[in-house]
Amino acid sequence: MATPKISIIGNGNVGSALEKGAKSAGYEVRSTGADPKDVRAAGAWGDVIILAVPASARQDAIQNLGEIRGKTVVDVTNLMNPDWSYGGDIKRSGAEQVQEWAAGARVVKAFNTVFAPNMATGKVKGEALSLLAAGDDAAAKKQVLDLGKAMGFDPVDAGPLSNARYLEALGFLNIQLGFGPTQYGTDIGFKVVGRGK
Ligand SMILES: NC(=O)c1ccc[n+]([C@@H]2O[C@H](COP(=O)([O-])OP(=O)(O)OC[C@H]3O[C@@H](n4cnc5c(N)ncnc54)[C@H](OP(=O)(O)O)[C@@H]3O)[C@@H](O)[C@H]2O)c1
Repeated sequence: MATPKISIIGNGNVGSALEKGAKSAGYEVRSTGADPKDVRAAGAWGDVIILAVPASARQDAIQNLGEIRGKTVVDVTNLMNPDWSYGGDIKRSGAEQVQEWAAGARVVKAFNTVFAPNMATGKVKGEALSLLAAGDDAAAKKQVLDLGKAMGFDPVDAGPLSNARYLEALGFLNIQLGFGPTQYGTDIGFKVVGRGK
């Protein structure tokens, strides 16, 4: 299958790190900030569209993307309240909400359990982090896992999109470990060991 073109909506910490990593891995990448015209062009151009925007901007970005039915949409969002408490819902993920807004697109939750400084290489201190990807469309999920592998991650199928609710909680734990009382900083990450036959 042809290498998918990657559009990244948002060129902040996450967007710029993913752009660097995907380009280093040989992918064709375009990224954009919030300008609606640029977002629409990125939506038309990319096969895989990464939503690297604040949770509060997801719906707006999806609307501005235009017609994206059949395309892969990657939700990297972590849901936080302004007081840094958990803004997600363990009974229904933000990614499932994204799927509702992006009807007909193939939504995959991924990258949210990784700190931006570790995203371009998929590694911390030379050790590959797991890229956990949850989604209902096997081909879309494979595109994301293949991208992660090419960037340097250890790709891990994390099951259906409904499992995104647990990835979102894990992303929140990552933030707690980094910036809560333990203060481990961003030089940390998760790895699933011992799976497979
Ligand atoms: N930082 C991390 O380590 C990390 C790790 C995992 C997941 N995440 C998640 O990744 C997402 C992005 O985080 P970040 O740290 O990269 O944030 P950021 O540095 O603040 O960047 C946000 C980007 O979103 C764009 N944006 C804002 N509103 C938009 C809209 N309506 N339409 C299109 N683009 C819009 C901004 O564009 P303009 O500059 O043009 O306004 C900016 O480029 C968040 O959901 C966060 O929870 C972050």
